[in-house]
Amino acid sequence: MNYLVSASVLSADMLNLESEIRKMENSGIDMLHFDVMDGVFVNNITYGLAILEAVDKGTDMLLDVHLMIIDPLKYVERFAQCGADIITFHLESESDTMETIKAIKKCGVRASLSIKPNTPAEEVFPYLPYLDMVLVMTVEPGFGGQSFITDTLSKVKAIRDKISELGLDTDVEVDGGINAETSPLAIEAGANVLVSGSYLFKAPDMAEAAKNIKKGI
Ligand code: DX5
Ligand code: ZN
Repeated sequence: MNYLVSASVLSADMLNLESEIRKMENSGIDMLHFDVMDGVFVNNITYGLAILEAVDKGTDMLLDVHLMIIDPLKYVERFAQCGADIITFHLESESDTMETIKAIKKCGVRASLSIKPNTPAEEVFPYLPYLDMVLVMTVEPGFGGQSFITDTLSKVKAIRDKISELGLDTDVEVDGGINAETSPLAIEAGANVLVSGSYLFKAPDMAEAAKNIKKGI
């Protein structure tokens, strides 16, 4: 299994994003996690297309775009044009799930489906054969710096078991409250892509923190 750490720039110093990106590159971070919030799907507003395009010009890191927006289908093509390598959207959004997966794939981008903490794992099962990744939210989406919800681990396990049963090699990503203590639990449950924001960016040594996240492997 390929284990990857995806750093959420939601916790980065926005005024110095370029140096934050260099720090990520030099700390063994595998992907840059880009949280897009529209103020409707979640009660927060972040950044969007123009910033993603600028980030894409400034780094070769894989761009892991997490859309917390009400109508992802409408924007898939433009996020792809702005440099997204992976596009995650929510099952709870208003877009048709299969149509959105198809639209992402059509752009040559990896398709990923996310569920919020209260959405049952089984709801993603029908889509597994069409997905490159599933994102199990381990906090309520909307804000960085929240505490990991332990109850979500059983969903990570159920999804990983189903993926194995179907003989697929779909990635399972976790996002929210991931740190040195919680990441081994998520890995144990079957996650292989670990998003972390506040833990990585607040750490005195980001490279050390990234190593700690992978300790449970
Ligand atoms: C929350 C975002 C997360 C967030 C993670 O809605 O999707 O990506 O940045 O931040 P931490 O690691 O601080 O929980
Ligand atoms: Zn995220």
